[in-house]
Amino acid sequence: MSNHIFDAFPALQVAIEELPLQPALDLLLERFPGAITFSTSFSFEDQIITHMIADRDIALFTLDTGRLFQQTYNTWNATREWIGKNIQAYFPDAELLQQFVSTQGPDAFYQSVENRKKCCYIRKVIPLQNALAGKAVWITGLRAEHSPERQDLSVLEWDNNNRIIKYNPLLHWDNQQVRAYIRQHRIPYNVLHDQGYVSIGCAPCTRAIKEHEDFRAGRWWWENNSKKECGLHTR
Ligand code: ADX
Ligand code: SF4
Repeated sequence: MSNHIFDAFPALQVAIEELPLQPALDLLLERFPGAITFSTSFSFEDQIITHMIADRDIALFTLDTGRLFQQTYNTWNATREWIGKNIQAYFPDAELLQQFVSTQGPDAFYQSVENRKKCCYIRKVIPLQNALAGKAVWITGLRAEHSPERQDLSVLEWDNNNRIIKYNPLLHWDNQQVRAYIRQHRIPYNVLHDQGYVSIGCAPCTRAIKEHEDFRAGRWWWENNSKKECGLHTR
């Protein structure tokens, strides 16, 4: 399956870079019916994509790390009501997590970058691999403005770790466009976005940012040189 997806990628990349989202989805759905999935963390970006794909045959999933903000769970509930569609939850493997928390404690992420990455690996990366299994296209809400590393991304990427085509339709949107779309379409959103939170992950690992700070400064804020990634989007 993945060789066949890989072979289709170069031609699709050229076509899709030029297309707005709806025709791009037409093309992808025609090419990979039933094999497109969208990961939502209920951020502004993900709510916009949810709105844009609501009527399409595209699965939605979320990675429930067990450590999300209550406000994120509230947004999940509101989104279920809003779109009337199931949002598939993926959980960490119980035995792996049990072992990790039993030996390292419940807040091991503060102890070392290694432990933090291990926690992300167990709570996010392995569940992501399960969510993407058997799929051809993975839609994300990645935006270039969020970090220097993300400025190198393309709207359509080949994700070699997961052997999947990754589609980042909002990559080149800026913060103002994002907020305007949410307002214009009265989309339910995570109230933390009104309290200084821009990039929102797990509760113990995310804080609000100040005006002059980078968008991802509030993620794993106690780390200096870890590139502030959890492994979902490493290349
Ligand atoms: S992260 O790698 O730092 O956690 P970020 O919060 O910037 O990612 O979100 C970028 C995109 O990754 C989101 O738009 C979404 O597609 C996906 N994503 C991040 N966290 C989750 C999650 N918990 N569940 C599902 N998708 C997620
Ligand atoms: Fe664990 Fe924090 Fe990563 Fe969430 S963001 S998976 S709590 S280290």
